[in-house]
Amino acid sequence: MAAPVLVLDHPLLQHHLGQLRAVQTEPPAFRALVAILSQALFVEATRDVRAVPAEVTTPLGTAPSCQVQERLAFVPVLRAGLGMAEALLDFWPKASVWHLGLYRDHDTLQPITYYNKLPPRVDADLALVLDPMLATGGSAMAAIDILKRHHVRRIKYLGLIAAPEGIRALQKAHPDVPLYLMAIDDHLNEHGYIVPGLGDAGDRQFAT
Ligand code: URA
Repeated sequence: MAAPVLVLDHPLLQHHLGQLRAVQTEPPAFRALVAILSQALFVEATRDVRAVPAEVTTPLGTAPSCQVQERLAFVPVLRAGLGMAEALLDFWPKASVWHLGLYRDHDTLQPITYYNKLPPRVDADLALVLDPMLATGGSAMAAIDILKRHHVRRIKYLGLIAAPEGIRALQKAHPDVPLYLMAIDDHLNEHGYIVPGLGDAGDRQFAT
């Protein structure tokens, strides 16, 4: 059985997702929305992170707390995953960031790896692949293949919008990887774009 696909259907998040999709949303607002939605996905995806009880001193006494024990790695797929990584680093600054440069060949729609900045020895307990648009699933599958070749044992995928085709492909190739999403859209068009989607997530973040 494949790992779960979680869609965060909280109305406030869905409100923000609507703004993100809107064609009139300019890059600065688009980036801010990507950040908020990515942090929400991050919180949900790390719900099971290992932590030990701790105690802190407040001005009025002591309070129970906890200390997270796991080392996290963010794996942004360039370039659209960059905004997600930045937002997650704001939330959890001590994570490692392993950049992966993958682009889709425009004719074959197959992923080509042009940059791989994984450390020689992986030193994270949990790696989060950050790729806002799960279209054909090609880039996500390639990113997870690379992580598995580096013996990363726990991997989760965080994305904003997915096409059913991409989910099916990813679950077939990597049934052990859970998916955390904001929406599952209708279909892919003939150019590999998610419909209705939001257009090109990289272009919309970086005004290209
Ligand atoms: N990548 C994007 O940025 N948008 C899509 O719709 C599909 C892939």
